[in-house]
Amino acid sequence: MIPINKKLENYYVRHQEMTGNLTGKLSHKFSHFRLIKTLKGEQQEIEEAEQGFRRLFHNFRKILLLSSFQSAMMNSLAMIFMLIIILVAGLNVQNGSMTISSLMAFVLYILQLLEPISELIKILDDLAEVNGVAKRTKQLLSKSDEQELCHVAPVQEGSISLKDVSFSYPGQKDPVLKNLWLDIPTGQNVAIIGPSGAGKTTLFSLLMKFYHHYNGSIRIGGQELRALSPMQVRQMICYVPQENTLFHGSLRDNLFYGKNKAVSEERLYEVLEELDLVEVVEQLPNGLDTVLSDSGHGLSEGQKQRFNIARALMSNGEIYLMDEVTANLDLVTEQTIVQAIDRLTVGKTRLTIAHRISTVQQADSILVLNEDGSLDDQGSHSELLMRNSQYQQYVSELKKVS
Ligand SMILES: Nc1ncnc2c1ncn2[C@@H]1O[C@H](COP(=O)(O)OP(=O)(O)OP(=O)(O)O)[C@@H](O)[C@H]1O
Ligand SMILES: [Mg+2]
Repeated sequence: MIPINKKLENYYVRHQEMTGNLTGKLSHKFSHFRLIKTLKGEQQEIEEAEQGFRRLFHNFRKILLLSSFQSAMMNSLAMIFMLIIILVAGLNVQNGSMTISSLMAFVLYILQLLEPISELIKILDDLAEVNGVAKRTKQLLSKSDEQELCHVAPVQEGSISLKDVSFSYPGQKDPVLKNLWLDIPTGQNVAIIGPSGAGKTTLFSLLMKFYHHYNGSIRIGGQELRALSPMQVRQMICYVPQENTLFHGSLRDNLFYGKNKAVSEERLYEVLEELDLVEVVEQLPNGLDTVLSDSGHGLSEGQKQRFNIARALMSNGEIYLMDEVTANLDLVTEQTIVQAIDRLTVGKTRLTIAHRISTVQQADSILVLNEDGSLDDQGSHSELLMRNSQYQQYVSELKKVS
């Protein structure tokens, strides 16, 4: 029974993995069904889902076969065992060492044993399933908690300094960021520019402690980032991501999400007012309580972007990281939003990945990243215009767009 049980356990582990992969893929694809329809990808999706379900079915068939074989074998063994006992008892009756009534009692007791034995067989199968699930759960639980990696130390301000920082993504040889040296004092407004894929978003990911295995040293507020807890870092950093994500749920739930739970209603309205969102909220059927299905379906991309900015600006942080935050806004709305962000983040350190000329012109300092993830130059708009040809080219491209 032990080797069969081991095999069953492996099939149950595979079953868990396959179900997880399939449901993850399906729910991701369902949330993008309009794109799938536009690209005429229905047939491809049907085929891929069919393949996934077929693999799941084959694996489950093996589970059924093995567990039926196991229970048939156990039942047969139990039957053989009982037959032998009845045979021995029958011989005893024949040679007079046992009475017929004792034999009858004996047979009745044995019949009572049948049910517990079949229960035992069922339990063996359940046990293999539980072991399979437990193995997968153990794998997940064995991932170390990022909290445990750090010692908490107090941070007073929002300066950022990088000393010879290089980073490559896990499993990749080539570095995405190469030998970066930076010094950003508290309260500075810094714009970051560079070609697509230069590592701008990656730099933000490092500052938010999503990756630990970089070379060199990163300091936030004078403290080594490695020594700070991720909770502490993310409490002091307010981040607006490149993609506009609103969760399924009401607009209110989205805005008061996570660390924003403690923010007051007054602060929310102050931010909404600044970002010109009060009217947008009033036009929604249930105001702030309107439920956004499909990650913000029913709002325009520009509105989603402004609500994303509002969510990041509601809580008070020392550092604001903004990844292309005005990408989906028209020029007029952009001006309003940029000024609002200026007012709401006054005195705080701000790093903005920029794609508009106004953002770079207004910045105290501009970082120019090369395609290979190294730092090309750092300086003010006028300084860079005088000395950096890549910057001059970038600015003339931006001027053409705006
Ligand atoms: N999670 C990841 N795993 C592996 N490689 C990644 C990952 N995220 C990004 N990269 C790679 O790292 C490089 C830098 O990506 P990053 O997103 O930082 O660029 P970016 O400068 O923000 O570009 P864009 O302006 O297009 O947003 C790219 O070559 C990208 O393919
Ligand atoms: Mg990016």
